[in-house]
Formats: sequence, C-alpha cells, structure tokens
Amino acid sequence: MWRPAERVRWKAEPGRWPSREEAAASRLFGPVAIGPAALEQRTWVPAMVPWRATGDGYVTPEVLDWYARFARGRPGAIVVEATGIRDIPSGPLLRIGDDRFIPGLRELVAAVREASGGHTRLFIQCLDFLAIRRRPDRARYLREFLRVTDAHRRSLDMAGAPDAEIRERLVALDDDALAGILDGRELEALRMGYRERVTDTWLPHIADLPEKLPGLFAGAAVRAREAGFDGVELHYAHAYTMASFLSRLNTREDGYGGALENRLRLPLEVFAQVRSAVGADWPVGCRYLSDDIVEGGNRVDDTAEIGVAFAAAGMDFLSLSRGGRFEDAAVPAVGAAAYPYTGPSGYECMPQYISDQQGPFGRNVAPAAAIRAAVRDAGHATPVVVTGGIHGFGQAEGLLEAGQADVIGFARQALADPDWFLKVRLGRGDEVTVCEYTNYCEALDQKHVPVTCKLWDRKEMDEPGILKTTDGKRRLTAPVWRPGLDVDAALAEGPD
Ligand SMILES: Cc1cc2nc3c(=O)[nH]c(=O)nc-3n(C[C@H](O)[C@H](O)[C@H](O)COP(=O)(O)O)c2cc1C
Ligand code: SF4
Repeated sequence: MWRPAERVRWKAEPGRWPSREEAAASRLFGPVAIGPAALEQRTWVPAMVPWRATGDGYVTPEVLDWYARFARGRPGAIVVEATGIRDIPSGPLLRIGDDRFIPGLRELVAAVREASGGHTRLFIQCLDFLAIRRRPDRARYLREFLRVTDAHRRSLDMAGAPDAEIRERLVALDDDALAGILDGRELEALRMGYRERVTDTWLPHIADLPEKLPGLFAGAAVRAREAGFDGVELHYAHAYTMASFLSRLNTREDGYGGALENRLRLPLEVFAQVRSAVGADWPVGCRYLSDDIVEGGNRVDDTAEIGVAFAAAGMDFLSLSRGGRFEDAAVPAVGAAAYPYTGPSGYECMPQYISDQQGPFGRNVAPAAAIRAAVRDAGHATPVVVTGGIHGFGQAEGLLEAGQADVIGFARQALADPDWFLKVRLGRGDEVTVCEYTNYCEALDQKHVPVTCKLWDRKEMDEPGILKTTDGKRRLTAPVWRPGLDVDAALAEGPD
C-alpha cells in the first residue's frame, strides 16, 4: 500500500470514554431520520466487502455470520457490502441482479434483525463496475492480445507486413522502443492490465450505459426491498462506473460527460428510476466521493455541488468516502489485476497509521463538513454520513456537535470491535478493542480472501461452533463479548 513519504507513526487515541448516562444523553446515541426510516442512533457501519459470498454471488453461512456479528453490537445502521447489480459472473462478490438472489438476501435481513433485536437498520450497497483484466505477460500480450494496427506498421516501417511479423518485431523490442510504438491505452493494457473506462464510447456496451444502468439499479433496489432491507445505498464512489460518470475525468461527449450538469445526468437518472420503482416511502441514498484525490478529478467545490444536486433530487442520505481510484493505482504483478486502493487516492480512502503530519484520523471531515454546509445553505436537511479513521466517542460526538456531519461511519473500528457501540452505551468504553489502522484487513481484501482483523482472528480458536477460514488458521468473526450477556437487560439496567 502507498503511504505518505513523511512516514509519521500515529496511534489511535480514543480519549475519554463516556459514562452510561453521558452516552445516553449524547447526540451519537440519539435518533436520526434517514428519509422515511428512523435510526435509533447516529452510528453507521459502512459497506465492507468481506469476501464470503459463493463464487456465483449467493449469501453463505459465513455472510450471515459476518453481518450478525456486527448486528450484535447494535449500531444504528449497517450497510451490506458492494453488491453487483448485473446478472453476470463477478467472482465471490455478493449479487442482486436476479430474483434468484432474493431468498439468500432475505435470510441476511433476518439474521441482522435477530442479532440486533430489531434495533439496527439494514441497507445494501448496489454496485456497477466495468471490465478489468489482469496484467498480462509481456510476450503473450504482444503475441495474442494486442490488436495490430496500421499505426504500428507505420511506426515500424513495415507497411503491408502480416500481423504475425509485426508481433514478433514488437516482442524483440526493448521497453523504451516499445513505448515509442504503442499508444497510451496499449501501454496501459501491457503494464497494468486492460481496463474499460466510461469514456470508451466506441464500445457499444459503454455507449449504452446511460440507457442500461437506470433499469439495472432500479431492478436491484426493487429486489432489495422485496428481501426486506430498510433501504438502498447507490454506490457512486471509488473506482466504479457511477463515480467515473461523476468525475471531472469524464469527458464523454454524448451529454453525459464534460460539464458538471452533464456528469450528474446519469447519477440523477439512475436515482429517479430507482425512486420511481421503490416509491417515496423507502430510503434511497448514495455513497460518493468528497474528493477524487487523483489529478484532474473532482475537488470539494465539485462535490459540494454534487451533494446539493442529490439532495435537491430527493436522496435520503449522502454517505461520503474519498479517493480509492484506479488512476493512481500501483502497477500490479504479472497475472494480478490493478487494485484501486494502492495509490495515494487509496491511502485517502483507508488511511493507515503510517501517515503524514495530518495523521490518518478524520481526513474526510473537512470536505464532508463543506458538503454538508452547502447542502444546508441550499435549504436541504439531507443527513450526511462521514467516515474515515473515526474510533473515539469524543471525536464522533464532537463532529455531530459542530454540525460537521449527521451520522458517523465506523468501518475498520467496527471490524476491530463490533461491540464498540454496545460497550460505549453501557459505559464500558474501556473494554473497546481500538483499531490500530494497520490495514491488515485491507491487504486481505486486496487478495480477495476472507477479511478478518489481526486483533482477534487467532484468538479463542477452540470456541465451539465458530466458523474459520478453510485452512483453519483464522476465525471469521470476533469473539463474543461477555457470552450470555442479556443485551436488552444490560441496556435497561446499566453495567453491573
Ligand atoms: C475490508 C474493507 C472492505 C471495504 N469495502 C467497501 C465497499 O464494499 N464499499 C465501500 O463503499 N467502501 C468499502 N470500504 C471502505 C470503508 O467503507 C470505509 O470508507 C473506509 O474503510 C474508511 O473508513 P474507516 O477509517 O472507518 O475504516 C472497505 C473497507 C475495508 C477495510
Ligand atoms: S486489521 Fe483490525 S486493527 Fe488492523 S486496520 Fe483492520 S480492523 Fe483495524
């Protein structure tokens, strides 16, 4: 993972924990409306892909276990991981692109209802993404994948030569000479692996995205409602299709790129179709980027305008992330695919403890606050969810008090300790396992293997009935805090 050159080491310091009474009187543990739904608290576990679905996108017992474990801590809301909206093979990514996925998703809703005693609201993040291929072997790329063109023939001074001869000449060239002959996209396909962009409008399925995506997102949202979810989060963030439409880097010339008004067109059309499919009485919001971070991408002046447009359109919440783009991703090894969390923008998305002078905590706060202010100035009360390095009660409560956000997202902190919410409410904050922001979990995510936390995945391995990785070395969810605790009674009575 990329890290800032300063290499300043930071330690998460959650500060003083509140008493049970202070927690009960706090904003953080007070209710908030998300459109037509009510959250009991302003706490939110944002989407995290744990790589537990089947190879064809179905819910597994491991998926149920993962979400039930978060639900035991009773956060205000949990957002189920990025879930594919198309009915196409997507590896072990959860899917919602066909009705056959509904029964599994219904079980997931039931598991969260049961584990949270009905107190946690459950949303699902709906995702579309474009094709990306692994970085090819150099010779294989030049011999098999590259499309030989007359431009190559001209550069090599080999007019009329058959493809096979051109290919062999290219294989024989050194890297510098090759760089003078291949164009930018060909070189990228060679060095990083081929990746589609929303601007590749010469490809019919890319030109068609504005026609296809509203229906695909609407179909997914209808299924989510049918499965019993409390709402849907449209994934407009990171390296994926919708964020790429929103980005300043989108130069499409068909009315869906260029000026912000055009870049907003498809995200608003998707939202409109989703809304009309699910109705006004069911929450629909989105996750988008407060800053693309990459060169030429959106900055906060764009993203504030985007927030205002989404709020004006009637979105029920705006959840803000940042970065996580392909444009600055690290060069992958041959045989591996580029990963959008490996460059500086990836760092901003999931900042880790080795950082710069600013440190990894709350880097998303200032832009989120600016977006919220713009939304409020425009007369909209749309709740704004901020996430990124938040782990302490005082820190979270301070953001709410200062009007910088309405709901606080805890991703890795909830992974490190899914009982954070419960412990803090019970005045037991000193028992919280504080996230160390090492990104061990993120490295697992990058390998597409089951995500766990290094602070608990080898603890209490003989606990009966726990699920483990197939090699038996890691447990898949955090050990239970105080087995046998009657949570309702404890919340009613306070700690013993
Ligand atoms: C293992 C892992 C998987 C993630 N998967 C998603 C995802 O599916 N969708 C998404 O919007 N963000 C995803 N994220 C980003 C988190 O939601 C969150 O924005 C990020 O970790 C920063 O918040 P934190 O500092 O509280 O962890 C993921 C993060 C991690 C660590
Ligand atoms: S592995 Fe655990 S401690 Fe490390 S960043 Fe992930 S959640 Fe935090």
